[in-house]
Amino acid sequence: MHSSHVHSSGYTSASKVDLSILQRIKDRNLKIGVVGLGYVGLPLAVEFAKAGFQVVGVDIAADKVERLKKGESYILDVKSEDIREFVVNKGTLQVSTSYEAFRNVDSISITVPTPLRKTKDPDVSYIVSAMDSLIPVLLDRKNYAIILESTTYPGTTKELVYDRLKSTYKNLVAGENLFIAFSPERVDPGNPKYHTKNTPKVIGGITSKCTEVVASLYKTVIDTVVSVGSTEEAEMVKLLENTFRAVNIALVNELLLMCDRMNIDVWKVIDAAKTKPFGFMSFYPGPGIGGHCIPLDPLYLSWKAKSFDFYNRFIELASDINGNMPRFTVSKLHRVFNEHGKTLKDSRLLLLGMSYKKDIDDVRESPGLEIYRILKEEYKAKVFYHDPHVPSFALEHEINENGEHPLAISCELSPEILKTFDCAVVLVDHSAFDYKMIEANSQILLDTRNALKDYRSSKVWSL
Ligand SMILES: NC(=O)c1ccc[n+]([C@@H]2O[C@H](COP(=O)([O-])OP(=O)(O)OC[C@H]3O[C@@H](n4cnc5c(N)ncnc54)[C@H](O)[C@@H]3O)[C@@H](O)[C@H]2O)c1
Repeated sequence: MHSSHVHSSGYTSASKVDLSILQRIKDRNLKIGVVGLGYVGLPLAVEFAKAGFQVVGVDIAADKVERLKKGESYILDVKSEDIREFVVNKGTLQVSTSYEAFRNVDSISITVPTPLRKTKDPDVSYIVSAMDSLIPVLLDRKNYAIILESTTYPGTTKELVYDRLKSTYKNLVAGENLFIAFSPERVDPGNPKYHTKNTPKVIGGITSKCTEVVASLYKTVIDTVVSVGSTEEAEMVKLLENTFRAVNIALVNELLLMCDRMNIDVWKVIDAAKTKPFGFMSFYPGPGIGGHCIPLDPLYLSWKAKSFDFYNRFIELASDINGNMPRFTVSKLHRVFNEHGKTLKDSRLLLLGMSYKKDIDDVRESPGLEIYRILKEEYKAKVFYHDPHVPSFALEHEINENGEHPLAISCELSPEILKTFDCAVVLVDHSAFDYKMIEANSQILLDTRNALKDYRSSKVWSL
């Protein structure tokens, strides 16, 4: 066997394939690029820096880059001391707003947002714009890897990354001198057990060689790497995972609506059902779903499926049920007020928790935002909120005299302050809340998360 074709990592190269990249991965002699330093990109960049690579991170948000340069993290799961070590002290994680910083990188992971348009169609413009900025700095280089991590519909990596690159640089051939893969990001912000490193990572390349190269790169920072047969398979894996969650959450939300009619305690039903040691998995109802993933990702899939003349009834139904939970929460509050002989109009309401789930600071798509808006605009209530993780948020539906969205500011939470409200609504079951104190000092409580299960009383109402 020819020694130059066999690498110590055990890979055997095909004759046309330049696998020097595999050796460089093994030697950590590689410069890694990350596009978009948000919830997904920043932890990934830090993992690569921890593994001993030289890393370059680019984000168009100048304020984020400035904070990183000062050694400050703005992501709960990333420690500021890591930013100080790698960005400020060692300089092995360089951050910039300019794509020029990518001139010499050997791999680029793209972690930009993939939101929905107002019409609920996928908005892949961030990926397109990242590629538009990236292509001119790559010049006629070869033997590098590009990994798309943003959640998106099957076909995106091929169409928006590979085809666009190839139409500019005709000599690039996937699996020979260019290694392109899709690797869905599964990070669960705020999860104390699973983070970037110990969450298995799925990788699917344009060719099997692309998968092999990218898998060997990610194995340097991720404990378990799972290879699949194509970029489309990898794209579909992520959509299956999040559709599974959206559909199951919708199922228990529908169960809640039914139990509400039948006067059955849905929380006790689920708690008992979950004692079955097999064939059941517990999901919980609530005031609605949020975040950048569960409400959006399934709609990427149903949109794409329509172009194949396929209609995803589960996805549309789940989206409808989950999307109506904020309004159901308000209607329940209305009924609770009636029971107490009160009206919502002009009442003082305190919403407890504004993030979309427990113990995190992310308010994107949070049902709390919609509940806040409905209560204030439609019911004319005086709405306040408290969230230890969300000091403020922009009221996107209001414009002040300066043409800006005004900020809602988290108010203090104390026994005295609680007593001044007609009602408190637990929207998020943050661990930091003192539920005993909340129960003792509220006039009326609506609990949308079963957070007060140990403190139920005549003034506590469950969703
Ligand atoms: N947040 C999560 O929990 C999570 C989990 C799994 C998957 N995802 C997916 O990962 C992707 C990124 O999500 P996120 O939560 O990290 O988003 P984010 O908004 O926190 O981060 C994205 C970053 O990209 C930057 N950006 C936008 N356009 C850019 C461009 N052209 N060039 C450089 N930087 C640019 C933004 O300024 C932002 O800092 C999305 O597709 C999302 O669906 C997110």
